[in-house]
Amino acid sequence: MTETTRPAHRVSVIGTGAIGGAVARRLLAAGHEVTVWNRTASRSAGLVEAGALPAGSPGEAASSATLILLTLTDYAAVLRCLAEPDADLSGRTIVVMCTGTAGDARQAARRVAALGADYLDAGVQASPETIGTDAATILYSGSRPAFERHLTTLGALSRPHFVGDTPEAAAIWDLALFGVWYDAQLGLLRALDTVREAGIDLTEFSHTAAVQLGHVVTAVPATVSELLRADYPAGPADLTGHLTVVRHLIGLRSDRRLGDGGLPAAAARIEELIADRRGGEGLTATIG
Ligand SMILES: NC(=O)c1ccc[n+]([C@@H]2O[C@H](COP(=O)([O-])OP(=O)(O)OC[C@H]3O[C@@H](n4cnc5c(N)ncnc54)[C@H](OP(=O)(O)O)[C@@H]3O)[C@@H](O)[C@H]2O)c1
Repeated sequence: MTETTRPAHRVSVIGTGAIGGAVARRLLAAGHEVTVWNRTASRSAGLVEAGALPAGSPGEAASSATLILLTLTDYAAVLRCLAEPDADLSGRTIVVMCTGTAGDARQAARRVAALGADYLDAGVQASPETIGTDAATILYSGSRPAFERHLTTLGALSRPHFVGDTPEAAAIWDLALFGVWYDAQLGLLRALDTVREAGIDLTEFSHTAAVQLGHVVTAVPATVSELLRADYPAGPADLTGHLTVVRHLIGLRSDRRLGDGGLPAAAARIEELIADRRGGEGLTATIG
């Protein structure tokens, strides 16, 4: 975690829910002058007691700081809070910290540019309790000069990680990471649902499932290296072998309440590669 070594900055936190509240508390603890605004004023009363300055509107909060963090449910709420038509926020940096799509981030960046401010999008890979610890990662993209200007302040919240100069890079990275989790967790749930129905002991099965998930984790560096080298060697199975198993799985998962996890599309891609005489390659070839 980066310690505050430069003079404290005036920071505004717009939206003091779970993440925003934790962010504001951490900034206060790091010695910053923090202004807060929340739609439901009572939700920021504790922060005001702890030393934050209350603002009467999002516009007032934005104009009272050089660094403005919007920690709101979604980008629709962000656009509502940035709606004051003739506001001039030039010289300020606006950081949008919420989960959303690439299109959401680009739209927010356009609005922020119209207000004259620099834009940073932030993907929060952290729970409120981890804000301010090394367990928190926050991904930033957009204006690199603004990121560098506020690095010390942002470093009080998490390990700051600049992931790209486009406004949407952090949103894409953040969502892709959530996708890794959902794919793995829903894959596990599909398996548990199936084996339970077959009368298989769930606890015994879970030990073997944990080993299987471990194989995915262990293979991450090798998979990336294959992509970087554009070389896709077969592992324990080649694409022809994979196709057989994937088709069995499609059968096993047919009519299940969590669906088939997109396996038919993967099978179609593997068939395409086999037709192209690439059946001896490994699974990474599907995106090579
Ligand atoms: N919590 C987590 O563990 C976590 C982890 C990673 C990412 N995130 C992301 O971080 C963002 C914030 O999450 P959170 O957990 O802090 O949510 P939260 O506790 O539900 O807080 C949401 C905040 O947004 C405000 N808000 C919602 N709609 C609004 C509107 N139309 N106008 C003005 N303010 C509005 C709420 O104000 P009121 O108090 O008035 O309702 C509240 O301050 C989300 O995008 C979430 O996906 C959260």
